[in-house]
Amino acid sequence: MLEELKKIEINAREALESADSEDALQHWHSKRLGRKSALMGVFNSMSKLTKEERPEVGRRANEVKMALEAVYEEKVAALKRATIQASLENEILDVTLPGRARARGRLHPITQTMRKIQSIFAEMGFQVYRSREVETDEYNFELLNFPKHHPARDMQDTYYTTKPGVILRTHTSPGQIHAMREYTPDPIRVILPGMCYRYEQVTTRAEMQFTQVEGLAVGQNITFGDLKGTLTDFARRFFGQSVRSRFRASYFPFTEPSAEMDIECFVCGGEGCSVCKHTGWLEILGSGMVHPTVLRNGGYDPEEFSGFAFGMGPERLTMLRHGITDIRYFWRNDLRFLEQF
Ligand code: DAH
Repeated sequence: MLEELKKIEINAREALESADSEDALQHWHSKRLGRKSALMGVFNSMSKLTKEERPEVGRRANEVKMALEAVYEEKVAALKRATIQASLENEILDVTLPGRARARGRLHPITQTMRKIQSIFAEMGFQVYRSREVETDEYNFELLNFPKHHPARDMQDTYYTTKPGVILRTHTSPGQIHAMREYTPDPIRVILPGMCYRYEQVTTRAEMQFTQVEGLAVGQNITFGDLKGTLTDFARRFFGQSVRSRFRASYFPFTEPSAEMDIECFVCGGEGCSVCKHTGWLEILGSGMVHPTVLRNGGYDPEEFSGFAFGMGPERLTMLRHGITDIRYFWRNDLRFLEQF
């Protein structure tokens, strides 16, 4: 029996030498020290030994068991150390390196301007009214008091579809007719933002595609004073409380009277510079009292109702605010430009 114990120990130690993974060690442990191991067999057969043999065999069996447990624990610890060492050597991580900054997206400068305009008018009680970009000649011109062959049509040449009379809108003004026809006879206070198209010679100041924000208020007793008050307040909120503004008589077929609004040049403070072309003023929008014919086309009786309207170009406002000299930057998708906003 003692001889057998010696053999068990030697075999086990030898087998442990070649166990060099966690799995192999586990396997070794259950084979050499588990319930069905040869060593446990010795413990189980103690009862068959004589009284004299028993203490000696028992002591030796315990010694072998403890010795094997000890070399096993040692081997497990050694393996763990080796694993950590290997990972330190192979997976080099310098925690003192600065992190890689993640590029953040941003809103297009025109979207930013659109949102600013929308939130200013929202505070004044205007709602956003969405209108179509593909229009009919009737809505884009006719109902806005531009009859066929009217000279004002010359300033807004457009793109035509293959369907006669269906065109891309040249301005957001046709949305006025849609809004009026939908809401009549209720009062209206809306802005209409969106994309417009013109068949234009593309230059630093003109693009074939651009945005506009239209405004329309219709109701009883709406006066030119309401128009001036609303737009003056808008200019202060958009450009700063101290900005000075003025209205100049103008002409649009769908408003009477009509006016263009200027703000004092904030580059030179009114002295005259290249941005304001030495006038001291910058034009920012067109406006006027809704023409009686347009009110009628929208379903409102001009004897009972009146209204004002205005239209502005977010590209132009953005150019003025940031001193941008070429309108073509906006839709060219050059990140070097867009990332500046
Ligand atoms: N639709 C005009 C344009 O694109 C701008 C405009 C002027 C709109 C006066 C208006 C307005 O509503 O009252 O040139």
